[in-house]
Amino acid sequence: MPATRSVYVCQQCGASSPRWSGQCASCEAWNTLVETVVSRAANAGANAGARSARARERAASAGSAAISPIGGVSSAEASRLPSGIGELDRVLGGGLVPGSIVLFGGDPGIGKSTLLLQLAGRLAAAGHATLYLTGEESASQVRGRAERVGAVVDGVGLVASTDLATAVGAIEASAPALAVVDSVQTFASAELGGPAGSVGQVREVATRLAEVAKAGATCVALIGHVTKEGTVAGPRTLEHLVDAVIYLEGERMGTTRLLRAAKNRYGSTDEVGVMEMRSDGLVEVADASRFFLESDQPPVAGSAITIALEGTRPLAVEIQALVAPAGYGSPRRATTGIDVNRVLMLIAVLARHAGLNLTGHDVYVNVAGGLRIEEPAADLAVATALASSLRERPVREGTVLAGELSLSGRLRPAARAERRMAEAARLGFDRMVTGPERGSSGARPPAGQLVAAADLRDALREALVKD
Ligand code: TYD
Ligand code: MG
Repeated sequence: MPATRSVYVCQQCGASSPRWSGQCASCEAWNTLVETVVSRAANAGANAGARSARARERAASAGSAAISPIGGVSSAEASRLPSGIGELDRVLGGGLVPGSIVLFGGDPGIGKSTLLLQLAGRLAAAGHATLYLTGEESASQVRGRAERVGAVVDGVGLVASTDLATAVGAIEASAPALAVVDSVQTFASAELGGPAGSVGQVREVATRLAEVAKAGATCVALIGHVTKEGTVAGPRTLEHLVDAVIYLEGERMGTTRLLRAAKNRYGSTDEVGVMEMRSDGLVEVADASRFFLESDQPPVAGSAITIALEGTRPLAVEIQALVAPAGYGSPRRATTGIDVNRVLMLIAVLARHAGLNLTGHDVYVNVAGGLRIEEPAADLAVATALASSLRERPVREGTVLAGELSLSGRLRPAARAERRMAEAARLGFDRMVTGPERGSSGARPPAGQLVAAADLRDALREALVKD
């Protein structure tokens, strides 16, 4: 290894300084200096400014690159390793890619250690050696959890350390198929002065482990206590250093856990995985599409079902709304699982285009089952749930809703309406109210199943039971 030293690099302008200070001397930004390891060789290169441009060009061409014909390079697809956990494979894009580094983020206590220990156990059981590096818990704590989740398997190695060099050494020495590093915040390089978890350390740990992954065939799974909103040592710092970022989400008190990719160099980012936390670890949900339906009872006022498309997977989801007379002051609008601003817009559209005024009412909207819905095709179900609650009339039995509402009250059909209807039919629904069709594609559903409504008023007439 080359001799190393560290400098402080400004995260805003890139200027480096040998000492830390609160303000960058170059761009004058505050609190942007982060300690970074540089090797002597790289440092000498950085000082080459005095050399002539020609000399630098010569130096660059001297380190000749190995050129490979593109057809001769093996693709990541060929060597993918199925993880043994279907819902995880779906989100990864088909399995783990050897030589890659994946960040698993999520709130503390959500189940990251559990999931990755299970993964280590599954792979080992399938004959692929794995290594679990724990900086967070003691070896005996990990062993205790392994007993619960069935990961006490030959082929799972355990290292308890917080030293980056030890972790790197262990991975290089054993070259496992998977190395879990739990967590990026607890490992630290002795070459940096900062404490474990500081931005400089987190970057160094991720950078070094990415190098180790790329140099061999090990897939490094890096655990990080980060959320999408997190900043300091969060995804902003780490996202571009890793190949994929997978978030484990869910309500701490609930048992549903969703896996989502925020970045994926080897697959799409719009698939979700659905798992459930049980006493023996995270288990895959057998029929995810049915999972988010609260009950199979006849509909009640304030509830509407939509078929959401998460990636390529249709999920039936119940939207619940409660509209109640407001007390003094401005009425409350609270949502879980859906953007409150989208609901505010739908409240305005209901008032203006369906004559349903909610000004004097508190409004609560909830997406059942802990799912978070982003797609506008859920608009119609939200508006219908609100109207249903206000008018105390349930949605007609067997009816689902999918369509985007415009500010003018017009309804646009949901993308891939046929696909959604097919799923609804599988779950026992017989009609879907949606927008007017725009040159449909694919298999036509049986006549009468897709009800095309031109606008919100029309859709509500079709959706709600008559008086
Ligand atoms: P953990 O994997 O430690 O979370 P993280 O690594 O993301 O911080 O999981 C913590 C929670 O999961 C803990 O509150 C207990 C619960 N749990 C179960 O319900 N069942 C189990 O089998 C295990 C191992 C944990
Ligand atoms: Mg943990």
